[in-house]
Parts: sequence; C-alpha cells; structure tokens
Amino acid sequence: MSNAYKVAVLAGDAIGPEIMAQAVRIFDVIEQHRDVAFELIDCPFGASAYFSHGKAFPDVTKGICDEADAILKGPVGLSYEESKKIPIDEQAERGAILPLRARYNTFANFRPIFLSSDMVHFSPLKPEIIKDGLDILLIRELVGGLYFGEKERGTNQQGLEYVKETLEYNEVQIRQVLKVAFNQANQRRKHLHNIHKSNVLISSVFWNEILDEVHSDYPEVKVTHLLVDAAATALCLNPGQFDVMVMENMFGDILSDQAGGILGSLGLMPSACIGPEKAYFEPSHGSAPDIAGKNIANPYSMIGSVAMMLEMSFGMKDEANDVWRAMQSVFEDGFSTPDLISNENAQLVSTDVFGDKVVSYLTALLAK
Ligand code: NAD
Ligand code: IPM
Ligand code: MN
Repeated sequence: MSNAYKVAVLAGDAIGPEIMAQAVRIFDVIEQHRDVAFELIDCPFGASAYFSHGKAFPDVTKGICDEADAILKGPVGLSYEESKKIPIDEQAERGAILPLRARYNTFANFRPIFLSSDMVHFSPLKPEIIKDGLDILLIRELVGGLYFGEKERGTNQQGLEYVKETLEYNEVQIRQVLKVAFNQANQRRKHLHNIHKSNVLISSVFWNEILDEVHSDYPEVKVTHLLVDAAATALCLNPGQFDVMVMENMFGDILSDQAGGILGSLGLMPSACIGPEKAYFEPSHGSAPDIAGKNIANPYSMIGSVAMMLEMSFGMKDEANDVWRAMQSVFEDGFSTPDLISNENAQLVSTDVFGDKVVSYLTALLAK
C-alpha cells in the first residue's frame, strides 16, 4: 500500500453522528478503487463526550488527534436549554471547538460558498440575482480576535456588574491569514474582497495596514475594501461580484452563516480549518438539534468536508472532484434533503438515501 492515512473521526452531537455515518462511507469507496488506505479512529468530542468522559475534549481524543494525519469533525453543541446542564467552560463550543482550533493553530478557515447551475433553485434569491450559480471562497481568520481575547466579569467601582471581552490580534496572526487569502485569489480570479470595519475599529485599521504590505507581494491581485455591514447587503444584492473574501474571526462567523442562507441551507456549507501542521475539516453549521434523530439532515456539508480533506490534506484532487461531482449528480437527478427549497419536480430523500446515491455515483466515477 503506497499511502496510508490516519483520520481522527469526531462525530459530535445531535445530527453529527447521522451525517458523519454518510461521510465516512466515502473513504471506503475510495479505498476500494485506489491504492490508498484510511484508518478511521472514532473519538469522543463535544457535549456527548462531556457526558461520557467528563470532558468535552477528552485527553484520549487529544492523543488520537495529535497522531492523526487529519481530523474530520462533525458539528457539536446542544440546544440553548440543554447546554445549560453543562458547566459553561465544558460546553461544546468553549470546551471543545475553541480548544481544538487553538491546539492546532488552525488559523485559516476556508468556507466555500458554492452553487452549481443545477442548484440555483435552492437559493431564496431571485433568479436574476443568483444567475447561473455562485463560486465564492470565504476565508475566515479562526484563532484570534474576540473569540480568544482576554475575558473578564466582575463588579466595577460604581457597584455595577460588567463584562469585558478583548479583540486582540498580533501582526503575525493577521499576515499569515492574509497571505493565504492572496495566494487563493492569485490562483482564482485575482480579486480579493477585504471585509473590515476600519471606520470604527482600530483592529481593522491595523489589519488593513498589514494587508497593504502583503498586497505588494501580489501586485496582480485586485483588492476591493468593503465595510462588513455593507458586505452583508452586497452578499444578498450582488453575490456574483465576490470571488475570494477575507475577514477576521467574528465577521467570518456571521457572514458565512448568511452565505448559507443565500445558498438555501447551512447543509450546503462544508469547511476546512488549516494550521501550519495539522488541518481539521467540519461543516460550518451547528448540530441542528431541531432536526436531530429524524434522518433528514443534509449530509452534503459533511461529505464536502471529506472532499476538502482529500484535496487539501492528502493531495487527492481528482478524487475530491469526483466526490463533488457525485453530489452534483444527485441534485441533477432532482433529489434533495428537505432543508432545500426544491423545484416542483424535486424528490425529497433522507440523509441515508442521499448517502446511498452519492456512494453509487462515486463508485461509477472512480471505476472509470
Ligand atoms: P445550527 O447551524 O445547528 O442550525 C441552524 C438551522 O440550520 C437549523 O434550523 C438547522 O436545522 C439547520 N441546519 C443546520 N445544518 C443542517 C443540515 N446539515 N441539514 C439540514 N438543516 C441544517 O445552529 P444553531 O441551532 O444556532 O446551533 C445549534 C448548536 O450547534 C449550538 O450548540 C451551537 O453552538 C452549535 N454550533 C456548533 C458548530 C460546530 O460544531 N462547528 C457550529 C455552529 C453552531
Ligand atoms: C462556527 C461556529 C463556532 C464559531 C462556534 C460553535 C464556536 O458557529 O464554526 O461557525 O463561532 O466559530
Ligand atoms: Mn458559526
């Protein structure tokens, strides 16, 4: 066997195990058709890990992730009411996701916003706006800003309770994600939208100064600066103007979910979280407790995260393209999970059946 990869599999909470069950089938199909082996190791992670192991990110999972060639993570977290049963620092977001990102310094978060021409009817936007589809790469800084700044709660000198969260970036953190964004823009349509708030935040002024410096290494890339609030509107009114977008952590969290709305469902949002030595791959969305256990979640985001892993961690671009093509074929045939607004001939399928169809198309593509 020429290549053997170890993949840590963190199925997560609520719909996590349902969509993960479909995603891991991709590895089996590829093993059957290519000279490669994948060792998949299931790990406890998230709220379910807190209940079974007392920690949202247990030591056993840390050890396996440290050894793995890549990490595949399902969504974690509970509904607002359920999460209150867990101490605040052990809730899945603060106790598992952020420590995972920090541990591997996964500073560059790739969130593709993609709709093929066969998928445009999923978008709630008018046909004249969505036109023949979308192909945007949103790059979100993932390990800095408000998420990781110092936090404080207390009572001030006037006796009022207060809270303080700090937005902090150093120049290295900003430069490294901007370089990734310029590199991507350079390989695509050579147009980078820088999303910022420099009219108010000095963190954005600093960010933009570093951007000018990095830009000098990429003179062929055109930069358009857009304030984050205006960017939210532009994404709805004219999303086709965007190719690569780059932004800090919190802006990226919000705009990427808005992008999911423009596509028609968060279930169409896979992602890659890239660090200097390790990468992990996860849907952009949460654990969707409202639809858990019903076998109706859309596994596209989870399967797409496997495709991103194949390309970005294992250099298997052709196989990754086949996975995307297999999913497109399911839509072309008129099938979709119920989260997607469908055309009148659409046939709704379950999570499992969507997975069956992807597996059968992928098998045919790989056998060619
Ligand atoms: P959510 O993303 O889980 O759900 C928002 C809406 O999108 C819901 O109506 C849900 O049914 C739908 N949706 C999301 N993914 C879908 C899919 N694959 N198929 C069909 N429909 C889908 O957001 P939320 O409800 O605000 O959060 C639920 C929990 O998830 C919270 O605990 C939150 O902190 C957590 N969360 C985790 C991650 C992560 O693991 N990376 C990301 C975001 C939110
Ligand atoms: C995301 C999620 C996470 C974030 C939460 C759950 C920590 O919303 O990946 O977009 O805010 O980054
Ligand atoms: Mn989010």
